[in-house]
Amino acid sequence: MKPKPLYDPYSPELLADPYPVYRELRDNAPVCYNEEHDFWTLSRFADVLQALKQPRLYSSAQGIAVGMTSEMSNTFEAVITMDPPRHTQMRALVNRAFTPRRIAALEPRVLEVATALIDDCIEKGSCDLVGDFAAPLPTIVIAELLGVPSEDQKMFKERSNALVNQRGRPGEVPDPARMAPVMELVLYLNQVYDERREQPRDDLMSALLAAEVDGQKLSQSELTGFALLLLIAGNETTTNLLGNGIQLMHDYPDQRTRLATNPGALPDAIEEFLRYESPIPGLARTLTEDLDFRGHAFRKGQKVMLLYGAANRDERQFEAPDVLDTSKPPTQHLAFGFGAHFCLGASLARLEARIGFEQLLSRLPDYKLLAGAERNAGGIRGFAQLPAEL
Ligand code: HEM
Repeated sequence: MKPKPLYDPYSPELLADPYPVYRELRDNAPVCYNEEHDFWTLSRFADVLQALKQPRLYSSAQGIAVGMTSEMSNTFEAVITMDPPRHTQMRALVNRAFTPRRIAALEPRVLEVATALIDDCIEKGSCDLVGDFAAPLPTIVIAELLGVPSEDQKMFKERSNALVNQRGRPGEVPDPARMAPVMELVLYLNQVYDERREQPRDDLMSALLAAEVDGQKLSQSELTGFALLLLIAGNETTTNLLGNGIQLMHDYPDQRTRLATNPGALPDAIEEFLRYESPIPGLARTLTEDLDFRGHAFRKGQKVMLLYGAANRDERQFEAPDVLDTSKPPTQHLAFGFGAHFCLGASLARLEARIGFEQLLSRLPDYKLLAGAERNAGGIRGFAQLPAEL
């Protein structure tokens, strides 16, 4: 029988608490080979960073999950699974919509949405701080930015949850039943695109329809890929940043009180939440060349898992990394990735988190989490449910 791999992305223990495994990897197997699924894992900060600095060698085009093949990643063409030079051209199209100035202009609307959600929670007296707050806030904001009617937000949140929580094993053919919600989302998005083609508006989907790269309009698959990626990336991760922060402030009451009385400290605290509990624990790349990596023979075509969550707890980079200290923001962390694929929505996520936490702490400073907290079933680190008494 083959020995159990030290790092198995599919193990339930890893979902519950990955940090002991991450520590063992960093200390004893910083370049770790998984024989069963033929991939390498890097867990030290410096190693993950060097890979992210070389997007041509560590390619994204064949998928960013260990089990993903180029056919799967090419079903929809999204920037996150493209390499330069196409990546650079496509990313430039959406960069314009996400400049810090454009994002700052969204502040009044984000505040309005966060206030209304907290109003509803207060009216109910108790709530699920994920389902009633952390989940709808980013969903409504990204839907409005894209131009998807916000009445439909519950539907696309459910569909995007279904997509993110799929945990197919390498080589496994996706179950058609599991793909159904995704296909529904695709049909829905294509219908909105058709409407915008007829009647353009001042939204991102209309802008993408009008955009050209080298005199060519985007293909339907590129248009769908963009909308799908923004909808999913803009939702799941920010929801989990909010959920993780809510739970951490509950577990560390002194830090919660300090932040409630000094909301100006929230931006630094948000960076520390991201470092301490990174919503995206890791993503994979595919090697485009053979490589001798510190005596290990990496072969062209093999996947390399880059563990952002482990790198962010590396004592070679951070002092006392297992201690949450919101008064000292990390100088650098990899929760948003690095380099060519650095998170497009980082400014938006930071804005939503700052306003979300400000509203929560000013209006519900004594929220109490109840039994029944539930972790996500999929690979994203965070909570599906956080029942609370207000
Ligand atoms: C706390 C919230 C968020 C976290 C932790 C997060 C994390 C990340 C990470 C780690 C990457 C790098 C992917 C890689 O290395 O392959 C990434 C890329 C990306 N993110 Fe985010 N993200 C967040 C919020 C958002 C939001 C709000 C949006 C959209 C509005 C967004 C859109 C994207 C896109 C489009 C990419 C792909 C960029 C590219 O490939 O060039 N993200 N994100």
